[in-house]
Amino acid sequence: MFVSHLSLVDFRSYSQVSVEFEPGVNALVGPNGQGKTNLVEALGYVATLGSHRVSGDSALVRAGTSRALIQTRIVRGERASTVELEIVPGKSNRVRLNRSSPTRARDVLGLLHVVVFAPEDLVLVKGDPDARRAFLDVLSVQLVPRFRGVLNEYDRVLRQRGALLKSAGMHRRGNAESSDLRTLDVWDAKLAHLGGAIVELRHRLVRDLTPLVEQAYEHVSSGQGPASLEYRCSLDAYLAEDVSIGASQEVPASLIEAQLLEVMSRLRGKELDRGVNLVGPHRDDVLLSIGGLPAKGYASHGESWSLALALRLASYDLLTQSEGLPGPDANEPSGWLPWGQDAEPVMVLDDVFAELDVSRREKLVERVATVKQVLITAAVAQDVPEELAGARFDVMAGEVTRVL
Ligand SMILES: Nc1ncnc2c1ncn2[C@@H]1O[C@H](COP(=O)(O)OP(=O)(O)OP(=O)(O)O)[C@@H](O)[C@H]1O
Ligand SMILES: [Mg+2]
Repeated sequence: MFVSHLSLVDFRSYSQVSVEFEPGVNALVGPNGQGKTNLVEALGYVATLGSHRVSGDSALVRAGTSRALIQTRIVRGERASTVELEIVPGKSNRVRLNRSSPTRARDVLGLLHVVVFAPEDLVLVKGDPDARRAFLDVLSVQLVPRFRGVLNEYDRVLRQRGALLKSAGMHRRGNAESSDLRTLDVWDAKLAHLGGAIVELRHRLVRDLTPLVEQAYEHVSSGQGPASLEYRCSLDAYLAEDVSIGASQEVPASLIEAQLLEVMSRLRGKELDRGVNLVGPHRDDVLLSIGGLPAKGYASHGESWSLALALRLASYDLLTQSEGLPGPDANEPSGWLPWGQDAEPVMVLDDVFAELDVSRREKLVERVATVKQVLITAAVAQDVPEELAGARFDVMAGEVTRVL
């Protein structure tokens, strides 16, 4: 797939901009702070309904205005689709597909696949578990769009249950009877049900990514390895070793659901004392290793970079492979992808080449040379490798000008 057109109104620093992209390489060059990342961020937003830089939507709307508009044209095989997406912070987004009447924003998911490589990716390896969970969740939403709803609902349940644990815990300390405890049973069931689905999908994602990461790491790092990943489920701390979820091949949602319920009932006293949700996918992690040692805390800076690149390249490959899988089923999508053909994502390399040493740079160039469409941002033209000739745009003070 590729994006042939992008226009923005009041998105980030842009009051109004319109860009025609080409298949193949598109380089966006301009000094710091001129709006290069803002452009690619908008495309990422259409793909995932989230920004790769911020969690809320308010920073996406141009200061002093109240809504942002992203319009884009996506070409997949013989088919072109137009997406218009309106972002109004604090309200639900509105989407129009192919100029028809507005629909739920979620309906746009799956239409465009984007994989963003950015200097911040180092946190995937060196940072806290939330970065790795977000990596899996963003990928899962592109593969299984209905998952956006599951993740949002899970967040809501966590917040509600957390609040209830706090208030019920306080009652308990005052020895007062509380109907909160009965309500808690209902929230336990919700958490377990949604949590089961999330763990099942993430676990499967890690399993499918593993050989791709191994391969990509070997390619970019010239052989210090191998790299591996393992899903670390917070349930495992409370289960006997022989039923460990992290090490299992398959983890059906129903099994996780039952185990979450069982562990929550055992932990209830502790959860009430502390007023926090102690177990569930919001506490899970992915253990990344290189040569059998945990990458976090052991890997060198260069190795960490190679692994971060490998994670992104593997996502790219997994999304590409999702081509040809079963078609849409409104209620229960059975495969990874509902949109069938031409699944190869748009690759975004945001300021990445400047961060890499010569060898990693060459390896990445080799890989990028054959992708269907790549958007590269760089502060200076020399940071765009010569081998990657293609369309060139200057980005300056909110204007984007095609120069080559
Ligand atoms: N909501 C907003 N309203 C107005 N301006 C914004 C908004 N959000 C970001 N900006 C401005 O956009 C600019 C940053 O744009 P962007 O991150 O795209 O720069 P860049 O060209 O990628 O720079 P660099 O080369 O440093 O990465 C900053 O000047 C910032 O103040
Ligand atoms: Mg930038």
